[in-house]
Amino acid sequence: MIVFDNVWFSYGDREVLKGISFTANFDERIAVLGESGGGKTTILKLILGLISPDKGKIIIDGVDITQLNEEELIPIRRKFSIVFQEGALFDSLPVKENVAFFMRELLKLPDEEIYRRVRELLRRVGVEDAEELMPEELSGGMHRRVAIARALAVGKTKMFLYDEPTAGLDPINSERIMTLIKDLADKENIGFMIITHVVYVAWQLCNRFIFLKEGQIVFDGNKDELIKSNISAVKDFIKELFFRI
Ligand SMILES: Nc1ncnc2c1ncn2[C@@H]1O[C@H](COP(=O)(O)OP(=O)(O)OP(=O)(O)O)[C@@H](O)[C@H]1O
Ligand SMILES: [Mg+2]
Repeated sequence: MIVFDNVWFSYGDREVLKGISFTANFDERIAVLGESGGGKTTILKLILGLISPDKGKIIIDGVDITQLNEEELIPIRRKFSIVFQEGALFDSLPVKENVAFFMRELLKLPDEEIYRRVRELLRRVGVEDAEELMPEELSGGMHRRVAIARALAVGKTKMFLYDEPTAGLDPINSERIMTLIKDLADKENIGFMIITHVVYVAWQLCNRFIFLKEGQIVFDGNKDELIKSNISAVKDFIKELFFRI
């Protein structure tokens, strides 16, 4: 379970989060929505302990992570598979070395075992033929799949965290990545938190919606509550959805 209890965070004197509280189970399917620069990516960084809050508590699986050192944070980070906003791969390494990277660093497995796992992961995300390619040779959709494979490589994943997983993809590839996200979650009964600007992606994949505005949560509810809401940010969201469907 993830608990944010009155979390405040600023970059220098720029206040980004002003008293955020929510509780999420690892098997939930949550969309985090809100304007650009609203603090969405910051929430993911806080969950992983990459930054720590100025005030408030963050509790992961019963552990208050705000006081942990780098070494103590490793088992916390391994509970999550994260695909960052840029989905960035290491440009100078072929696909198979990208996926192998954290396995080598963290798990210290023999090569044979690493490459066996790499092949299995690439198969799971549907790019088994891309093993020897360099990142620059991949299409946007393949790039995102390899990033997902790399995210799956190390953890004993309890939850997926996706930051703008469909950004920059054409509609067909967006749809494919959405299917992959859903299939991975269904197969292992693991939840996810998705940050997205794309209303349709959130609607299709998630059953809980958290809206951020000016550093605070202005809405946190399910589809029914979303449709009934009178909050302007939520109404704009619904409006956009009707244009799409
Ligand atoms: N390392 C940093 N140093 C200083 N300011 C930062 C840093 N990272 C983010 N910010 C600022 O904090 C605010 C929140 O950033 P964050 O990345 O969480 O927003 P976001 O909601 O993910 O936005 P987007 O939808 O554009 O990805 C922004 O105004 C951003 O400019
Ligand atoms: Mg962001």
